[in-house]
Amino acid sequence: MDIGAALEEIGKVSTLEGLQALKVHYLGKNGLLTKEMKSLVQLAPEQRKEKGRLLNEWKRALEEALEVRAVQLREQALQAMLEREALDVSLPGYAFPSGGLHITSLVISELVNIFRKLGFSVVEGPEVESEFFNFDALNMPEWHPARDMQDTFWVEFSPAPSGQEASEGSFVIQGPLGEDVTALGGAVLRTHTSGMQIRYMIQHTPPFRIVVPGRVFRYEQTDASHEVMFYQLEGLVVGPHITMADLKGAISELARGLFGKEGRARFQPTYFPFVEPGVQFAMWWPERQKWLELGGAGMVHPYLFKVVDDYRQKHGLPRAYEGMTGWAFGMGVERLALLRYGIPDIRYFYQNRLSFLRQFRG
Ligand code: FA5
Repeated sequence: MDIGAALEEIGKVSTLEGLQALKVHYLGKNGLLTKEMKSLVQLAPEQRKEKGRLLNEWKRALEEALEVRAVQLREQALQAMLEREALDVSLPGYAFPSGGLHITSLVISELVNIFRKLGFSVVEGPEVESEFFNFDALNMPEWHPARDMQDTFWVEFSPAPSGQEASEGSFVIQGPLGEDVTALGGAVLRTHTSGMQIRYMIQHTPPFRIVVPGRVFRYEQTDASHEVMFYQLEGLVVGPHITMADLKGAISELARGLFGKEGRARFQPTYFPFVEPGVQFAMWWPERQKWLELGGAGMVHPYLFKVVDDYRQKHGLPRAYEGMTGWAFGMGVERLALLRYGIPDIRYFYQNRLSFLRQFRG
């Protein structure tokens, strides 16, 4: 075996696999050096000692050379990988698409913030509602012509067997006290947020001030200002001495919050079964110098207080609304957005066209 050639070979090998092969070639079980060592037994004792020392030196030299080369090759491999995977931080990045709030959410938060400053709490209610809260309790019994003002989506479902939890395919409408109100009437997609007036009054005792943003549904022909699904903001204030002047004050404050110092509100008499007297209100839009019709309002009809107190009493709660007065309003969120941003058609809102939505995202 030529030790010089072997060491040179090890110094030149260019891969770790090649190096491993050389190790086996020289030092493996059948390697060249191993064979030489095995042949020592055939030598005379003197020669054996001499040759044995030599072979041991070669072995150490080979092992050291293999180790040194392994370190070098690993270092080279690491360098190569670092070069291959180098990051060029000067390359232009990718723009990650980011979401934004929908125009309806933006307008709702603007409205809600104005009312928060006036001390109102924000509450929400169910979209699938009992006919009782959406109509009957609001002084709109089945035979009342006012029901025709709001074309209604009725929801068909199989009530959960009494006393049992709703399971798949069955459904329970929960009342304001957590009770099952399925027996009180059919189920509708709520046609307005006014049902929450009743729900909230049953749950709470006056005085209070709330606003209720929420989605409502009407089975009607769509056009530039009518959608089948839209949002309303409901307001309700009840206390011992609440008057129509408070209503005018709050709506006027809303007008100033939305349109600045020049903002003002106008009220015209109209009819809603759940208020008396009832008004529709408009706001002055200084930029365009015109009035915007925004919604309905009025003093809470005493019938509602009676329904609420009867309901409370039936469920073991004390009557709480005798001697109280209150006002309520309900306005269309998209209608305000349409006029304010000069959007020509309400049907753009929920078509999910990004080119439209991106113009308003907050
Ligand atoms: C109501 O829904 C009453 N609940 C409002 C109310 C509340 C009156 C409390 C008195 C006291 P009305 O149906 O007019 O009223 O709807 C209120 C507002 O919702 C309208 O002024 C309009 O801004 C908006 N609106 C009504 N129908 C649609 C529709 N199809 N698409 C978009 N907005 C609508």
